[in-house]
Amino acid sequence: MIFAEIHASRLASQPALQGQEPIELTVVVPTFNERDNICPLAERLRVALSGISWQVIFVDDNSADGTAQVVKRLANDDPRVMCLHRIGRRGLAGAVLEGVMASAAPVVAVIDADLQHDETILPGMLGLIRSGEAELVVGSRYLTPEGLDTGLSPMRLAGSRVATWIARLVLRAEVSDPVSGFFMIRRDLVERVAPRLSSQGFKVLFDIIASQPEKLKIAEVPYAFAERQAGDSKLDGRVVIEYLGLILSKLTRNVVPPRALLFGIVGSTGLLVHFAALYLCRWLGLTFIISQTLAALTAMTSNFLINNQVTYRDRRLKGWRLFTGYLRFCALCGLGLVANVAIADLVHQVTPLWWLAGASGAIFGAIWNYVGTSLAVW
Ligand code: GDD
Ligand code: MN
Repeated sequence: MIFAEIHASRLASQPALQGQEPIELTVVVPTFNERDNICPLAERLRVALSGISWQVIFVDDNSADGTAQVVKRLANDDPRVMCLHRIGRRGLAGAVLEGVMASAAPVVAVIDADLQHDETILPGMLGLIRSGEAELVVGSRYLTPEGLDTGLSPMRLAGSRVATWIARLVLRAEVSDPVSGFFMIRRDLVERVAPRLSSQGFKVLFDIIASQPEKLKIAEVPYAFAERQAGDSKLDGRVVIEYLGLILSKLTRNVVPPRALLFGIVGSTGLLVHFAALYLCRWLGLTFIISQTLAALTAMTSNFLINNQVTYRDRRLKGWRLFTGYLRFCALCGLGLVANVAIADLVHQVTPLWWLAGASGAIFGAIWNYVGTSLAVW
């Protein structure tokens, strides 16, 4: 009896035609620890999108703060709300992509959960796509003077400016905010490039534009970037390096994988570790041979641990697999060293340029280490 009443009242509170009218717009919201932002955002979407047949898919990477549970509670009351609850995975780009792929609507929008993006411009964006004026509409922070002085710290603003500048250079497209996390696009345009998109990093929009076989019709709608309401930003130094890695990858037409840059940077920190360890061993009075061996082992170990923590954060090895992975890493890097010396020696036999020989060996060794460990360790 009570159940029937609840059921009836729930039906009454539902949007009239839900389930009969096809959904025109799917709003994809990637979330990671955004518990307190879910209900306010859903409420704002309801208001902004009244009169449109829409749904929202929250893609949550099993946030520890219980974001997914909040979304599911909401979904019980409103069938337009859905939760894509991902386990054992992390990453903004991958989350956005999965949300888009889960949609059957002709148009999808992507918006941050933290209320920094202005949802009231969504109907205007949809209008541009409906009319065929645009295939992709980007919410842009840079078109209004107000857009500039809210939300971002001076440091973030400068970083964002540089990222935008590089992206425009690479894309050769006239987009004032190509790294925006707020945009709307025809779903088929994402699906056709989906296999080529990177699931790492933050720059989903950049990747979607860069991967298109033909030039897209792009429109921009200005909005003012707001202050984050609750929770913390997940954009950190690693995200920036990943972004540079992605650009490098696009510039080389996917020859250099996005992770390679990060792997290379970690590799160079190994050099510092090596010299620090060597200095310490010498200071302790160990012989040079012993010191150099210990230093190399220390550098290799620190490289392994940092790569496991940072470069391969999404595939991090733990427990017993951390140990076997470490052994494999050392074996491969050892082989890489032998190949490095052999190649350098070969080159040295045909040219007197010692630095060219050295660099050839080092580059071969680095590629070997990257490819080998990415296949056999992570
Ligand atoms: N599922 C999932 N997994 N969601 C994530 C992850 C993740 O690993 N990392 C971040 N998110 C979600 C956040 O919960 C938030 O809803 C949204 O993605 C954006 O993350 P923020 O941490 O708020 O990013 P930001 O505000 O610092 O960065 C903004 O500006 C960038 C350009 O400078 C975002 O709009 C970015 O998308 C944009 O590229
Ligand atoms: Mn944000």
